[in-house]
Amino acid sequence: MIRCVSCGEEYDDDEVIYTCKKCGSVLELVNEIDVSKDIFDGRRDNLWKFKECIPVDESKIVSLDEGGTPFCKCDKLGDELGVNLYVKVEGSNPTGSFKDRGMTVGMTKAMELGVSTVGCASTGNTSASLSAYAARAGLRCIVFLPSGKVALGKLAQAMFHGAEVMSINGNFDEALEAMTALALEKHLYLLNSINPYRLEGQKTIGYEIVRDLGWQAPDRIVLPVGNAGNISAIWKGVKEFYDAGFIKDLPMMTGIQAEGACPVTNAFKKGDKRVVPVENPETIATAIRIGAPVSDIKALNAIYDSNGYSETVTDDEILDAQKLLARTEGIGVEPASAASIAGLKKLVDEGVIDKGETITCVVTGHLLKDPNTAIDACTQPTQVDADIDTLREILMSR
Ligand code: F0G
Repeated sequence: MIRCVSCGEEYDDDEVIYTCKKCGSVLELVNEIDVSKDIFDGRRDNLWKFKECIPVDESKIVSLDEGGTPFCKCDKLGDELGVNLYVKVEGSNPTGSFKDRGMTVGMTKAMELGVSTVGCASTGNTSASLSAYAARAGLRCIVFLPSGKVALGKLAQAMFHGAEVMSINGNFDEALEAMTALALEKHLYLLNSINPYRLEGQKTIGYEIVRDLGWQAPDRIVLPVGNAGNISAIWKGVKEFYDAGFIKDLPMMTGIQAEGACPVTNAFKKGDKRVVPVENPETIATAIRIGAPVSDIKALNAIYDSNGYSETVTDDEILDAQKLLARTEGIGVEPASAASIAGLKKLVDEGVIDKGETITCVVTGHLLKDPNTAIDACTQPTQVDADIDTLREILMSR
């Protein structure tokens, strides 16, 4: 069953609907887990190991073996920050971001519904993922990207997998509005995170975190927030496992935004339930360059209900954290993902996060998604002849 998160109006699972017809709010799938957690044991460690908890038709699954991503204990960085740190590396998914979890489920639903065309607006990763899954499913794929603001790796993926890419003169929020209008006219099936089936895939990040901690929740899950779907999805996942009795505690959901694109943090700091859109969002972390997040209600509920928090970080803090994670722990992530590490650092400094807390930072996309930002952050290689004397001289003098 699909239910409105605000007024509780209910809809059939197979209705193609993105917002509540009665009140206009966002929707979620309602499902109860009625299996024992032991059934997950011994299965291949991908997202579909949790298939009983995902409300789609198993015979229609479109998968690239997503999920089951690395869960790295990061003692060096954790010790430096004074916390017990685990990093969930979502860049290890097939197209290099957590979006693949949402897309495998969303595309499976598209096949169930028998649609022929899928579409999304994107800051990059959603389009990269959708285009790959649409190729695998054999569907037509249309993506709208904010002109000049999509990191090169993501653009390359969307184009290479054969999506019809429209470069929109405008920002992500404007591109999404246009894409949603076309979806409502029924020209295509919308696979942005306003589609509740997307979040049914992404909630498995929450499942895996608690499973990987030996059926325990961390004190806190820290992650970047853009359109605000992922924080909502992870909260739904951990709550489902809590309600099923698989875990005894719930984590504090902690959402980090870039200073130039922080409607959710602004609302949180005022205690509001809805955001006031940021008109011209700007940040180096282009993935989360979003001013009017569609899942604001769900995200703020997740933060309030979990006794969580939201904070902003500057672009410099993001770039420093990106390098720190790469050079201390060997984990290469794109700027938006590093916002989680930057936020963790800031919240420890501010005393919001206590020393010794067990933290899981979700790093959402791979370093190579945004090669330009990575290269710009480094000293360029030394150009030199393949002459052993010169090389020895340079290297030994360092
Ligand atoms: N991190 C990365 C790498 C992302 O690509 C996104 C969102 C987020 C974090 C934020 O997640 O929107 O669920 O709060 N990227 C979308 C896209 C908007 O189009 O690829 P969110």
